[in-house]
Amino acid sequence: MQIMTHPRLIPTLFFLFGILCLNPLAAQIYRPSKGIELRVNALLAKMTLDEKIGQLTLYTTDWGSTGPTIREGYKNDIRSGACGNLFNSHTTLFVRELQKVAVEETRLKIPLLFGFDVIHGYKTIFPIPLGEAASWDLEAIEKSARVSAVEATAAGLNWTFAPMVDIGRDPRWGRVMEGAGEDPYLGSRIAEARVRGFQGKKLGDPDAMLACVKHFAGYGAPIGGRDYNTVDMSERYFRDFYLPTYEAAVRAGAATVMTSFNDYDGVPASGNKFLLDNILRKEWGFEGFVVTDYTSINEMVNHGVVANDKEAGELALNAGVDMDMQGAVYQRFLSQSLKEGKVSQAQIDEGVRRILRLKFELGLFEDPYKYCDAEREKKSLLAPEHRAAAREVARKSIVLLKNERQALPLSKSQKIVLIGPLGDNKSELNGNWNGAGNADDCVSLREGLANVDRTNFMYIPGCDFENPDKSGFADAIRAAEKYDVFVVAVGEKAMMSGEAAARALLGLPGVQEELVLELCKTGKPVVVVLMNGRPLAIPEIAEKATAILETWWLGTETGNAIADVLYGVYNPSGKLPMSFPRSVGQVPIFYNEKSTGRPFDPNSKWTSKYIDEANSPQWPFGFGLSYTTFEYREPKVIAAVTAKTALTVSVTLTNTGKLPGEEVAQLYVRDLVGSVTRPVKELKGFQKIMLQPGETREVKFTPTEHDLSFYRRDMTFGTEPGEYEIMVGGNSQELKKVKVKL
Ligand code: BGC
Repeated sequence: MQIMTHPRLIPTLFFLFGILCLNPLAAQIYRPSKGIELRVNALLAKMTLDEKIGQLTLYTTDWGSTGPTIREGYKNDIRSGACGNLFNSHTTLFVRELQKVAVEETRLKIPLLFGFDVIHGYKTIFPIPLGEAASWDLEAIEKSARVSAVEATAAGLNWTFAPMVDIGRDPRWGRVMEGAGEDPYLGSRIAEARVRGFQGKKLGDPDAMLACVKHFAGYGAPIGGRDYNTVDMSERYFRDFYLPTYEAAVRAGAATVMTSFNDYDGVPASGNKFLLDNILRKEWGFEGFVVTDYTSINEMVNHGVVANDKEAGELALNAGVDMDMQGAVYQRFLSQSLKEGKVSQAQIDEGVRRILRLKFELGLFEDPYKYCDAEREKKSLLAPEHRAAAREVARKSIVLLKNERQALPLSKSQKIVLIGPLGDNKSELNGNWNGAGNADDCVSLREGLANVDRTNFMYIPGCDFENPDKSGFADAIRAAEKYDVFVVAVGEKAMMSGEAAARALLGLPGVQEELVLELCKTGKPVVVVLMNGRPLAIPEIAEKATAILETWWLGTETGNAIADVLYGVYNPSGKLPMSFPRSVGQVPIFYNEKSTGRPFDPNSKWTSKYIDEANSPQWPFGFGLSYTTFEYREPKVIAAVTAKTALTVSVTLTNTGKLPGEEVAQLYVRDLVGSVTRPVKELKGFQKIMLQPGETREVKFTPTEHDLSFYRRDMTFGTEPGEYEIMVGGNSQELKKVKVKL
């Protein structure tokens, strides 16, 4: 191991430089444009109390199966000014119709905001966010959000309820599919990329939409992984692991923030002044508006912190909630609460100001129909370049988990039999939260394979997702006589993850696992193609399958992207953004754990471990294979304190295999002795590097002071002098180390 410290890496300098670079993104935080305030105040001065409360109100439309409808009551609410914002209404036609009511039939002609869950695409559907996170490719992720915004704004929308940046360490929780996984550093970089993608160059551009960071805060840590459940942890832990992604998104300029359903430290998020005022507004300087999640103000009655909806509204407004999503609490009770002195006029006015500012910012007062150009809509949705981008991101999101006997890539001369309920399926490919995506627009795996070679393969379903019927097994097994390779597409149905889709069991549903294991017995290579929204626990498949590809749900271009990887047109480069457990008993499971006083020692009973299961995951965070191989030499710490970096770490990386390929080189750090316990490793840098066979490259990492800072014993944020372990490698487990003193 090479140990290098440099005399220039002295604490004083380190701290001085640190002050300069503590918040590298502070400059991009959303600030209202100059000149807007006068217009906002002039409008506010004309508004009645009811009209003001209308601006604080957001309602959904009822999107019927045959087309959009809106409950008559809501249209009247728009007309009277009682509802200033809508969600779940899109298409230029429908948006125009509703906007017309707002700007032609209301007293003050204030345009509506139109929100929608554009989570991983509008019409062209990209991989689910957890899948995209596996690409570790920030440019590709930003592009995905950009294309999504281009399409969504062409279809009338100006506000997306994304990015979802909740840290997910518990795969039982179904909403891990919407986030970027378990790590705050990777999650933060992805959060920034998504905000940039959605909001574009500047708000007001016709293809820029407001981003909404959600769900603030800590929604990803419900007890037992059960959706909506209680969240409780120390403030230190919360700040170290759960808050950074929200902060990164806010500092990247996100204009709006959505509260979460859960409580934190005994107070529901939608009534939590500590979160909304102290942290979000005062500490981070957020100047956009805060919207609740769906009826989460009302749900504070169930939480048991208020007796009725009226009190819930008072708690929410006083905590800093500006907009009530779907609860109708502000609409029904706020004027009464004001009369009683339970809320202040100033607080209401401030909420209205925050919302109006963004309506001005978007340019809606100049042209309320700017997102309603039917011609643009027609050209934009599913445009060939959007589909091409989706295919590119999709293949980058695939993770090769296992590849024995060089089963992959396939060659065209092999006879392939495609098996499994997801082999010829389109309905599940867009995953959950699939915007306005249509299953019919998806390329199935069967079609993707046929696009490569129509002659050498056939499809046999084998079994269903949940149905216990095994009568299809025999045909599938018999195919071993005539075919060279099984490609088995198994996994979850889309609605098995996402909201309200927690699972207590993490295996493959139904008899799918049995089918795979039966096929393995034939001795023919079995290539398992997984499609799912969360890490699964599949130890037997992990052991017996010949090759395994994690493909999540890849959206519109699923079949083409998987075929690209299966046939080696694209060499897989994805790495897991979440640890895959061996069994449910291990969860929550994550790489950045702390040491404990009795760290795991296989030879000692009295250390932190299970008696019936390994501590390690099946596949760790950051893991993913390639069709080529990479070798890391020992890392070196180079002396280089600059205004922007705390240190520079260099490592030599070589492509030792026979194919060109991309590797995600990862840098982890550990503060060996801190004033408080610190994780055994934390990701603090990564780079995706393309190398030709035999090519060697020196890769440099430059973590900043901010990257090495944490909440110290006294809860101030900063670094501490002392020894650090610096680790570099291709996943969170196989790492080469060097020590450095700071
Ligand atoms: C979800 C949010 C979503 C909202 C509006 C809620 O149920 O928790 O993530 O943005 O609905 O659709």
